[in-house]
Amino acid sequence: MAIDSFRFGIVGAGTIAGLHARAIRSAGHRVAAVCDVRREAAERLAGEYGAAVSTDYRTLLEDPAVDGVIITVPHALHAPLALDALAAGKHVLLEKPIATTRADAAALVEAAAAASVTFAVGHVLRFVPSHVAAHDLLRAGAIGDIRLVIERRASDYGEGSRPGWFFDTAIAGGGIVLNVGTHAIDRIQWFADARIRRVSGAVSARPGSAVETDAAALFELDGGVHASLTVTGTGLGFAEQITVVGDRGALTVDRTDGVQVFTDGRRTGHVPIEPDEMAHAFTAQIEDLVEAARSGREPRIGVDYAVGVLDAALAVYDASAAGAAIALPERVAA
Ligand SMILES: NC(=O)c1ccc[n+]([C@@H]2O[C@H](COP(=O)([O-])OP(=O)(O)OC[C@H]3O[C@@H](n4cnc5c(N)ncnc54)[C@H](O)[C@@H]3O)[C@@H](O)[C@H]2O)c1
Repeated sequence: MAIDSFRFGIVGAGTIAGLHARAIRSAGHRVAAVCDVRREAAERLAGEYGAAVSTDYRTLLEDPAVDGVIITVPHALHAPLALDALAAGKHVLLEKPIATTRADAAALVEAAAAASVTFAVGHVLRFVPSHVAAHDLLRAGAIGDIRLVIERRASDYGEGSRPGWFFDTAIAGGGIVLNVGTHAIDRIQWFADARIRRVSGAVSARPGSAVETDAAALFELDGGVHASLTVTGTGLGFAEQITVVGDRGALTVDRTDGVQVFTDGRRTGHVPIEPDEMAHAFTAQIEDLVEAARSGREPRIGVDYAVGVLDAALAVYDASAAGAAIALPERVAA
């Protein structure tokens, strides 16, 4: 194992892979290998970093010059590729959602328990500076005890808005809830410092879409906290806003106004958004993986917590189909 520079392999050289590659370099580590079934995509990314190219991820996993693997492939491939990476003895950063099915998630939990490497899941919001600031304010009691969390997201989910596999249920595992909603579910639990226990909700698909493009969900969390999530892919401009309501005020975060705290009917706190905060977050996520791999400590987001996020997302589908609330199994708290 390299002591100074950690050597990463990236499997899946698509949209998000470039951000991971830049983060690896910013953190002082190396992109050693890139794999994509589309050779030209692998070559394009690898060329920027002088990395080895492959089109079969097993070649990358067999490469002794790779210490850790970042898996950024379509959702249904997350679990099988992560299982193979763990079996090959590589440290793993797997993009969210951890899997598309409960069976795949269970297999990952079992494999992670048996593995001696680090397995982190890419719930990158944990590393976003404005979010960390908001979380610190909440834990310091800026708005008192949390009662309610309101998440609203909008992101174009029309055909052509993203690669085609996102609209194929078998490979995407779901639509906007599994893809975008998992970020929201993580943020709700993190900010509330509580786990979702019960889920009700409804999903719908815009005409012609095989996956859902819109959803509304209600969550009951530990300690009597309630949360709502609305996520729409139809028509509205991009939005990701969270409002946390406490017994002494409220806190909001969005990408325009940053973090705002309101008490006694006026704004009493403000943390602006730093430039490049997402790039910073991806770098911090890499640093967390490397530190965890080197020290043997848990990564910021481990497999058990990530499975809980998946549980909550899948429960939105189940609640919608059943027309009834769904109770979640016991899981690791945020
Ligand atoms: N954390 C975030 O903020 C964030 C943002 C965007 C995407 N993501 C996640 O990252 C993952 C990838 O999303 P994307 O938007 O980059 O998708 P993408 O389609 O742009 O990239 C996926 C790449 O994987 C490649 N691929 C498919 N099968 C493969 C295989 N068997 N072996 C090697 N490569 C293979 C594809 O050719 C493609 O280049 C998804 O899980 C997505 O949810 C996370």
